[in-house]
Amino acid sequence: MDLKNFTLDESVAFITGGGGFLGRQHAEALLKIGSSVVLSDISNDKLEQSVNYLKDNFPENKIFKIQCDVTSTDSIVKAQKKIIDKALFVDILINNAAIDPKVVGDINMESSFRLESFNMFEWDNQIKVGLTGALNCIKVFGTEMANSNKRGVILNIASDLSVISPDQRIYKKDGIPDELQQVKPVTYSVIKSGLIGLTRYVSTYWSMKGVRCNALSPGGIYNNQSKEFVSRISNLIPLNTSLRYSSSVSALSLQNIITSLPSKYGLISSICSLDFAKSFGFICSSP
Ligand SMILES: NC(=O)c1ccc[n+]([C@@H]2O[C@H](COP(=O)([O-])OP(=O)(O)OC[C@H]3O[C@@H](n4cnc5c(N)ncnc54)[C@H](O)[C@@H]3O)[C@@H](O)[C@H]2O)c1
Repeated sequence: MDLKNFTLDESVAFITGGGGFLGRQHAEALLKIGSSVVLSDISNDKLEQSVNYLKDNFPENKIFKIQCDVTSTDSIVKAQKKIIDKALFVDILINNAAIDPKVVGDINMESSFRLESFNMFEWDNQIKVGLTGALNCIKVFGTEMANSNKRGVILNIASDLSVISPDQRIYKKDGIPDELQQVKPVTYSVIKSGLIGLTRYVSTYWSMKGVRCNALSPGGIYNNQSKEFVSRISNLIPLNTSLRYSSSVSALSLQNIITSLPSKYGLISSICSLDFAKSFGFICSSP
């Protein structure tokens, strides 16, 4: 697939969690095909770093940053007002923000994330960001898209764990008793599965108003994890395709259909093993 087939010259994308590892890559993918981007994140420092990097690399594009907490509708509405003040209209929403507890190398990942004693503050907090936060943004920006009589695209960043169970053997460390082994938390599976339900719902809700909703379900993406981890995940994860590399952006690994059936309304079932740029171009620009 040639990226030149897709253009987003007139588009403005609002990307939540834009200061994080993948937020910047989503932005890059869209900038490459002409979109303007508004990066948002709860962390101003992270935003600053991402936006500086992107401005250096895409001097021709319009790149903005707005600090925004997706758990607060007020904060999202304020962000929307700032965008409207710039005479911009968000026609692409990427729901990417999450509290993503990385098991490997995350010293904060404690045994309180084990199912038997799961910390209920973490349960509420992670759901509030990863699932409710997506709904909050859809309510604000999706409604604007639906009322505009223009096109709109909502893309929820899910995970392979929307589709499959975590294989906790991936995270197992030698010499640690079973009951103290770190695990991928239950919240992650619940949030990412919930995002697929949200995607299905929204994909038909505004379909007659030209607003599409899809989800991407990447597997684990390479970010300097140890060789041992890479080898373990490659051997254990179904389809045996995780942690692929690509030259410009990290590759998606999962070859599964994750949303509901393609419909006459233009819902796209995703995702094949395309790289991010191609996936984003495809999903965000198809009529
Ligand atoms: N990295 C991977 O291997 C991988 C694989 C599959 C899916 N995903 C998903 O991709 C998305 C991005 O992952 P990542 O690896 O870039 O994570 P990350 O932790 O690097 O980025 C997440 C960003 O969300 C921000 N955030 C947290 N709470 C927020 C809030 N209340 N409001 C606004 N922003 C908030 C954080 O500050 C952070 O910058 C997540 O949804 C994650 O679940 C990641």
